[in-house]
Amino acid sequence: MKYATITGLGYYVPDNVITNEDLTQYMETSDEWIQERTGIQQRRYFTYGKDTNASMAAAASRMALERANVTAKEVDLIVYATITPDYFFPGSGFLMQRELGMDGIGVIDIRDQCSGFVYALSIADQFIRTGTYKTILVVGSEIQSTWIDKSNQGRSVAVIFGDGAGAAVVQATSDPAHRILSTHLHADGRFAEDLYVKDPGSSRPNRSATKEMVDEGGFNVVMNGNAVFKHAVVRFTEVIQEALKANELSPEDISLLVPHQANIRISDYVRQQLKLPEEKVINNIQRYGNTTAASIPIALNEAWEQGRVRPGDLVCLAAFGSGFTWASALIRW
Ligand code: ACO
Repeated sequence: MKYATITGLGYYVPDNVITNEDLTQYMETSDEWIQERTGIQQRRYFTYGKDTNASMAAAASRMALERANVTAKEVDLIVYATITPDYFFPGSGFLMQRELGMDGIGVIDIRDQCSGFVYALSIADQFIRTGTYKTILVVGSEIQSTWIDKSNQGRSVAVIFGDGAGAAVVQATSDPAHRILSTHLHADGRFAEDLYVKDPGSSRPNRSATKEMVDEGGFNVVMNGNAVFKHAVVRFTEVIQEALKANELSPEDISLLVPHQANIRISDYVRQQLKLPEEKVINNIQRYGNTTAASIPIALNEAWEQGRVRPGDLVCLAAFGSGFTWASALIRW
C-alpha cells in the first residue's frame, strides 16, 4: 500500500517589512485599529525587479527540496496554488518550473484562494496513493501587495494582506505510521461574491482593462467581512471535526493545528470551539499578515523550524477562503 508523506518544507518571505505605521502614509488607519481587529503588526511586500510570484515560489521550493534531500530532476509533478499569478496565463507554476530546470514534468496550476495549499496537497496525496507519481512539489505563493486598494476606500481589506511563498515535498512511503491520513475539500459557490476580485474577467464585452473598469473598482478585492467571519468560524471547525471523525480521533489528539492565517480573531474562535490550548495552534499572522495560499506552508515551516512538529505528532492543516472554500488535511508526522 502506498501512502504520501511530507519529507521537506521551505518558505520565502520578501525582506521588505511593512508595519502598520507604514500603512498610514497611504490611508487613514492606526496600529491599534489593525491589531485589535486582525492581530496583524506587520506584513512583507515584494520588491519590484527582485521578487516575482514564481521566483518566491522557486526560493521556497529550493529550500524544501534541499531539506527533503531531493534534486529538482527527481520531482514528478508540480501542484501550484496562487490567486495572484505573474501573468493572466500561463500560470506561475510554469515559470517556476523553468527557473528550477524541471522541464517536461506536469504542472497543475490551481486557485482555490486561501484553501489553495490544502487543495494542492490533496491532489498530491491522490496522485501518490494511486501510484502514479513518487515525488510531488506542492506550492503556495502570493503577491497581494500590488492589487490591494491602499486608499481609504480599500483600507479594511488592504491592511490584512501580505506577500510570501511556501512549499512542501510530498513523497511516496509504505510506512503507515508517518503519512497524510486524509484530506477533505469543500466549497459553496453561492457565496462567490462575498470575497472576490471581478476583473480582468472574461465575461465582459471587452476584457481589456479600461479606465472605466479601474474606476468601477473591478480590480480591487471586495469583501463582506461579516459574512466571511461568520462562515469561516463554522466551516473551519466543521472540516477539522470531519477529518478527526474520519480517522476516529478527537480534538485532544491534535498535537498542532495550523490554520490558514486569515485573522487572529477567527483562529482564536476556532481554537476555543475545539477547546485547544493556545500552544497547540500556530499564529504568525502578526508578522506576515494574510498571505492566502502561502499562509499555511509558511506557518507550518516556522512551526517545524521551532521544533513544534515532531515525528509521530498529529498535525492538522485547516483552511477557509474565497469561493467559499474550506478544507483540512490530517497528517501523522
Ligand atoms: N483603519 C481604520 N479604520 C478603518 C479601517 C482601517 N484600516 N478599515 C475600516 N475602517 C473603519 C471604517 O471606515 C468604518 O468606520 P465607520 O464605522 O466610521 O464607518 C469602521 O472602521 C468599520 O469598517 P468595516 O469595513 O465595517 O470594518 P470591520 O469592522 O468589518 O473590520 C475586518 C474589517 C477586520 C476585515 C472585519 O470585517 C473582519 O474581521 N472580517 C472577518 C473576515 C476576515 O478576517 N477576512 C480576512 C481575509 S479573508 C480569508 O482569508 C478567508
